[in-house]
Amino acid sequence: MICYTRFHPTDEELIMYYLRNQTTSKPCPVSIIPEVDIYKFDPWQLPGPISQLLNDNNTTFNLTHDFNNIMGNNNAGHDHNVDRLQLGEMPHQYNTDFGKWNQKNTKGPKTWPLVGAAIEQLVNFDRMHDWLVKYLSKFKTVVVPMPFTTYTYIADPANVEHVLKTNFANYPKGETYHSYMEVLLGDGIFNVDGELWRKQRKTASFEFASKNLRDFSTKVFREYSLKLCGILSQASRQNREVDMQELLMRMTLDSICKVGFGVEIGTLAADLPENQFAQAFDTANIIVTIRFIDPLWRIKRFLNLGSEALLEKSIKMIDDFTYSVIRKRKAEVAEFHETSRDNKIKHDILTRFIELSEDPESNLNDKSLRDVILNFVIAGRDTTATTLTWAVYMVMTHPHVAEKLYSELKTFEEDRAKAEAVSLLQYDTDDIESFNQRTNQFAGLLNYDSLGKLHYLHAVITETLRLYPAVPQDPKGILEDDVLPDGTKVKAGGMVTYVPYSMGRMEYNWGPDAASFKPERWLKEGFFQNASPFKFTAFQAGPRICLGKDSAYLQMKMALAILCRFFKFSLVPNHLVQYRMMTILSMAHGLKLTIERRS
Ligand code: HEM
Repeated sequence: MICYTRFHPTDEELIMYYLRNQTTSKPCPVSIIPEVDIYKFDPWQLPGPISQLLNDNNTTFNLTHDFNNIMGNNNAGHDHNVDRLQLGEMPHQYNTDFGKWNQKNTKGPKTWPLVGAAIEQLVNFDRMHDWLVKYLSKFKTVVVPMPFTTYTYIADPANVEHVLKTNFANYPKGETYHSYMEVLLGDGIFNVDGELWRKQRKTASFEFASKNLRDFSTKVFREYSLKLCGILSQASRQNREVDMQELLMRMTLDSICKVGFGVEIGTLAADLPENQFAQAFDTANIIVTIRFIDPLWRIKRFLNLGSEALLEKSIKMIDDFTYSVIRKRKAEVAEFHETSRDNKIKHDILTRFIELSEDPESNLNDKSLRDVILNFVIAGRDTTATTLTWAVYMVMTHPHVAEKLYSELKTFEEDRAKAEAVSLLQYDTDDIESFNQRTNQFAGLLNYDSLGKLHYLHAVITETLRLYPAVPQDPKGILEDDVLPDGTKVKAGGMVTYVPYSMGRMEYNWGPDAASFKPERWLKEGFFQNASPFKFTAFQAGPRICLGKDSAYLQMKMALAILCRFFKFSLVPNHLVQYRMMTILSMAHGLKLTIERRS
């Protein structure tokens, strides 16, 4: 029964709930609506089998053979000597009279006929990441049978390397993800596999390495960090609380639109202005997410009803905006070329791809330009804002880290000022004008090279990502049966998920202090030392490793350097900090803070 009450809120409830959470971070007043990790869970498969069982609960099944076929659950590949756990091994006889149910599996979640371990997963849905930590800390690989598929969760770097690199071709994003997301992401890099992906990856990697784009991004990130800083100093003067997560979401959206399209959308302001593109973008993002838990979405789309009707409207708004920018920018590029004023050309990603599209062999039309840009906006916006939010929270809840960071930033400021022969302006924290002048001066000392010297700051961000990875779980499809390095067999058609949230908390990966926030673990003699990307998986690893990693660090370091040098943050009393169970690890109720200016 729980399935029907939980999974059939109305469209309006779903959309209002997600919109409310997305834009204002208010807690959900409608308790029946689950917060769902869109990649992971196939709850639409639950109502059928469960209701069948509940309505028909005197039937006795002998399902071992059929069940194992359906689930791809081949116990022959299971070896208890290896460090993994098969959650939900199938008993030999199933009786749907639940009172007589005989659970064979004592180590893992309870498993039931047809629904496998779905019930325990469902019950633990709101704390799914920690539920997985519990199992993965005991067993490096956890196999969870679900209705009609099997999920394999991995936290052992050797298995992760196998999936993300050694046998990469066998573990694509998959057709289901593509079909659900196509309306928004089209055939952009984030949403395709195989040759289509390879071509885009090659071009985009080359463009991302360009110095022009880096310099332009640095300027944009500096400008928007200062804008945020202005809003915070104003709030501190007025003793006003702010929701840091909301401000950071606005900052990263404005920045990525500027870097991606070359357009100012201006959502970052103290009065939290509305912007049609931003709203349509958030709405579309949420509704495609809802598709993963809404069994009726295809019918709604066909009939143009409810959430799907709103999605169509939002996509139209996004497309109108995007195509108009593409047309305008194409005209500008043509004019620059005609007047030979190439030095005036913009350096946003769109402009670069328009230039590339002039080569007929590139096959880049307006639709592919649209897909390129929207994929970057999706990939880079929430991930960066979420990480910044957790980093601010980590710094303020670890005073010794805040002080060490502050001291690194003060020393850096003095050294850089000396190196640039700049005399630092005097300022008074009570005088907003002098305070703002000094923050501007400090920001002027930050650039790609100088930020590279802030090793402790780099470690603070990386340590935040270890414990609060923006993408907490990342599932892959399985094309062909395979055996993981620890002996676990995986079946074609199932899913294998590497779990950065769990991996960062495993003592077998990080030692006995794995659960503690310790930026020092990343430093050797004061210098930042990277870990293997198969152990620190916040950016994925292998051929599909995040393309925006450097850009993300650049923005996060720029913003945090200014924030942690000039402000002290305190949590609003009784504000609840909790993750939201979504694809991105944002805070369910935002991050409500009060602010003090620092000398
Ligand atoms: C803290 C910030 C970020 C984190 C933690 C992060 C993490 C990730 C992860 C886990 C993936 C793999 C996702 C998957 O399997 O589908 C990914 C892919 C990607 N990221 Fe990021 N990302 C961040 C910021 C950015 C930024 C700022 C950009 C660009 C402006 C970006 C661009 C991309 C792209 C294009 C891909 C797809 C790569 C491919 O499929 O070849 N990311 N990122």
